[in-house]
Parts: sequence; structure tokens; C-alpha cells
Amino acid sequence: MRIGVVAETVKAETRVALTPETVRKVVDLGYVVTVESGAGERAGFADTAYAAAGAEISASPVWDSDVVVMINAPQLDEIPALRAGSVVVAMLAPALDPDRVEALARRGVTALAMDAVPRISRAQSMDVLSSMANIAGYRAVVEAAHAFGRFFTGQVTAAGKVPPAKVLVAGAGVAGLSAIAAANSLGAVVRATDPRPEVADQVRSLGGEYLAVEVAQEASTDGYAKATSQEYDRRAAEIYSEQAADVDIVITTALIPGRPAPRLLDAAQVASMKPGSVIVDMAAAQGGNVAGTVAGEVVVTDTGVTIIGYTDLPGRLPTQASQLYGTNVLNLLKLLTPAKDGQLVLDLDDVVQRGLTVAHQGQTLWPPPPVSVSAAPAPAAHAADTKVEPTPKKPRLPFARAAVGIVGAVALFLATAFAPAELAGHLTVFVLAVVIGFYVIGNVHHALHTPLMSVTNAISGIIVVGAILQIGTGGSGGNGMLVPALGAVAVLLAAINIVGGFAVTRRMLSMFSRS
Ligand code: NAI
Repeated sequence: MRIGVVAETVKAETRVALTPETVRKVVDLGYVVTVESGAGERAGFADTAYAAAGAEISASPVWDSDVVVMINAPQLDEIPALRAGSVVVAMLAPALDPDRVEALARRGVTALAMDAVPRISRAQSMDVLSSMANIAGYRAVVEAAHAFGRFFTGQVTAAGKVPPAKVLVAGAGVAGLSAIAAANSLGAVVRATDPRPEVADQVRSLGGEYLAVEVAQEASTDGYAKATSQEYDRRAAEIYSEQAADVDIVITTALIPGRPAPRLLDAAQVASMKPGSVIVDMAAAQGGNVAGTVAGEVVVTDTGVTIIGYTDLPGRLPTQASQLYGTNVLNLLKLLTPAKDGQLVLDLDDVVQRGLTVAHQGQTLWPPPPVSVSAAPAPAAHAADTKVEPTPKKPRLPFARAAVGIVGAVALFLATAFAPAELAGHLTVFVLAVVIGFYVIGNVHHALHTPLMSVTNAISGIIVVGAILQIGTGGSGGNGMLVPALGAVAVLLAAINIVGGFAVTRRMLSMFSRS
């Protein structure tokens, strides 16, 4: 099949749907790729780079391809140029733009919305919203730093002491976490708030301080926030009032899917900020989290606060954004090309493929059936306001438990009474090891199980000692060289086990190290 990479027709668009690097991998999947001339120019990718990656370059538009990949949805007047039976892959905003989905269905096109990939672990590698939000969060900090008249990091210089900038991030989803990491890496003091308490650890792990709004919230079941309660909003407003007067930069990313952006900062709170402060309202396109935001514009208030309402933050890092978008598209194509034969196969029984298919065989398939996943810890069974029905417990069998205990005790007694003394000693060590191991490992956080494993792996150092002793027997005892040979193999295997365990741990821990 032929895949066409479109030169985006939306005027301000700087990104391209596939980069030369991803084109090469798409060609390896068996597809023929045609790139419209100049498609990657604004993202820094020349036609020659695409040609070197194995693409054909077309001087005319590529709408008649079997699969058309693009960033923005095709305009209504471009849809007739698509071939009936072809596939279009783009950010289609199906919830906001049902007419376009309808038009694509009428044209007989299979429309795959990259922005409708379900937010489940298996689909993360195709999740363009997360890729773009990640870039946008980073860029929001860069924009804030550009507009802010001071350092982010604190310094003590011969010319005086400079305090660090204080940054508040409201909403710690993908964009918010990326903003926290970027602001922290620039040296600012970062605080963040979010109605989902489960993000507190993530905020802290990125160097931020989590400001909790101490009000019970309905737990998230799909990884997204629910609408906040009035009580929550009242308490959060107090926090925003305190913080607005204190911080230098506010980055707002609050979003509840399918709703207008929640208003977090009112005009009085904006006015209470110090002159020279900067707000980046990332939700500007959905109406804004901040009073006074103008989508796509930079506004400076009468009190000297700059409010940045850019809605194209990912496009301001076009090379990076194209690389991540292209990789997301590539991962989708891998999923849809199981035989790697250049033939796209759609399986609507697959929850990911069903989730992003918004039009197929003349029908609109939006919205898809809900996918229920939970990013939240399981609700406490005793919570008074929980609506979760407790799973009916199987009736306990007290006699069965007691019987198992008695049989165990008798077996232990027999083993210690009649078995050789050596076995009783081994058994005691074994039982103690099980009990101690159970409590030690059970109390170590899951995230640390890999380092723990490598440390326990090192216990197999005892095998090395034992094996070396056996090698030392030098084949005495009528075994010839069998025992020393087995000892040598044991030393080798145990050494691989120990060194390998530490190597894996080192690699894992280095992921958390800045250097
Ligand atoms: P997300 O769904 O991952 O995160 C949104 C976060 O807001 C969630 O953690 C949620 O719990 C939190 N939230 C909801 N209500 C809140 C409230 N009342 N107070 C504080 N936090 C609240 O969304 P993502 O992907 O991080 O995107 C965030 C925003 O950034 C969206 O509005 C999105 O449209 C926007 N965005 C803007 C771009 C731009 O160029 N300006 C580019 C990409 C995303």
C-alpha cells in the first residue's frame, strides 16, 4: 500500500506527520511512502532527507494515497480529494468536530483519530496528546522564562543575592508534570496542585512540592480528572489567592475532558501577583484557566502581569514535535501491519483500534464504547462516601484453616523428632528465611524490587564460595575431574548472576540520575 505524507495546509502549522527517520521504518514495514514536496521544511526536514530514507517525493498533493497521514484534520474542501476506501490518519478532534467525521464517513474513508487513542498503558506509544502535551509543558516554561525578567535559579554573586523564581503549576497531568520537570531543571522553586491526590508522588519525584487541597474528591476511573466539587473549588481558591501573591510564574494546565476549562485564577488573583510576573495559560484554547487570557495572544495587564495564551506550543518546537508525532504514527502502523507486508489491517475487536476509528465503511463510529482503566489507588473499603460495591467475600472455612495449621504442626514435629538432626537444622533455617523474607520484601516499595533483587542475587556469592571449595578438592574422592568441573561451571553461572543483577540495577538507577 502507498502512504502519503501531506504538506500541512493549515497556515500556522509547522509540524509534519512523518520524519525521515520514521519514514525509513515505515518503508521497512513494507509500505511505499510518498512525501509531498516541502512537507517537512518548516520542521527542519528537507526533501532530500526523505528521499535518502526511501521515500518518493511528489510535487503534487498526495490525497489519492491508500493511507494519508497528516497532523491536522483534512479541511472540508479537501475531503473529496481523498479516495473512497482509503485511510486517513490525523488529529481529528471527533468530539469537537462531528461534522468533519460525518463528511469523512460519507466519503467512504476510514478515519483514524490520533487524538482519540485510549489512555491505557498498551496504547501509550501511540498517544499523541501525551506527546504533544509533554512538549507543550516544556515549552510553556521556556516561554515563561523568556517573558520573565529574572533568573529562574537562585544565585549568590559578587553583585548581590538573587532569589530563585517561584513557579506554581496548576494541574499535574502530562503537560503539568513536564512543566514541573522543566522549571525544576532551570532551578526554580516549584509547587503544584491537582485534584487527583495520586499525582502527589509524581510531583515530588520531579522536584516539586505538592499542594494538597484537603477535600474528598471522587476517584478517577479512567486516568482523567472528574469535575471538582464546590467545596474543592472554594478551598482551592484560597490556595490560589495565597500562591498568586507569592509566586512569580503560574502555569495552568487544568483540564476535564469534554468540558470547558475550569476557571482557576480570577481577575483579583491575577491583579494580586507582583508586577513582572508571568502566567502561561495552557488551556487557552478551551476558554482558559485564567481571567484575562486571550487564546493565541500575549496580554500584559494594567498591573504588569504577562498572560501568555499560546495554543500552538508543540508547534513552537516543530522538529521535536514531528519526531514524537511521527513515532506515534509509526507505532500505530506497526499495530495495523501485523504481517509487516505493507498491508494495513484494521481489527475493530481490539480496544485501541476501535477507540481511534471514528469512521469506517460509511459509518461514523464515534464515540467508542468506554474503556475503563484506573490510575488511582483502589478506594478504601471503609470510605463512607464510596460508591464501590464491595466484592462479596467467599465465606471463610475456619475448620479448613485450622486443619492446615494442625497438619503443618504435626509434620514439623515429626520432621524434627525423627529426621536426622541436620535436617531439623536446615528446616529451621528454611522456615526462618521464609518468614524474614516475607516481611522484608513485603515492606519494600514495588519500585525498589529490582535493586532489592540484585542485592539478594549477590547472596548467590555463597555458591561461588562453595564452588571454589569444591574446585579446591582437586578431584579427590574418586570423582575424577567431575566435581571441580561442576564447581567451575557453578562459579561462572553465579558470577554472571551477580554481575548481571548489579548491571541491571545500575542501568535502572541511572535513569533517575541527572547526569
Ligand atoms: P491531562 O488530562 O493529562 O491533565 C490535566 C490535569 O488537570 C489533570 O491532572 C487534572 O487532574 C487536572 N485538573 C482538572 N481539574 C483541575 C482543577 N480544577 N484544578 C487543578 N487541576 C485540575 O491533560 P494534558 O494533556 O496535560 O493537557 C493539559 C492542558 O494543556 C489541556 O487544556 C490541553 O488542551 C492543553 N494543551 C495546550 C497546548 C498548547 O499549545 N497551549 C498543547 C497541548 C496541550
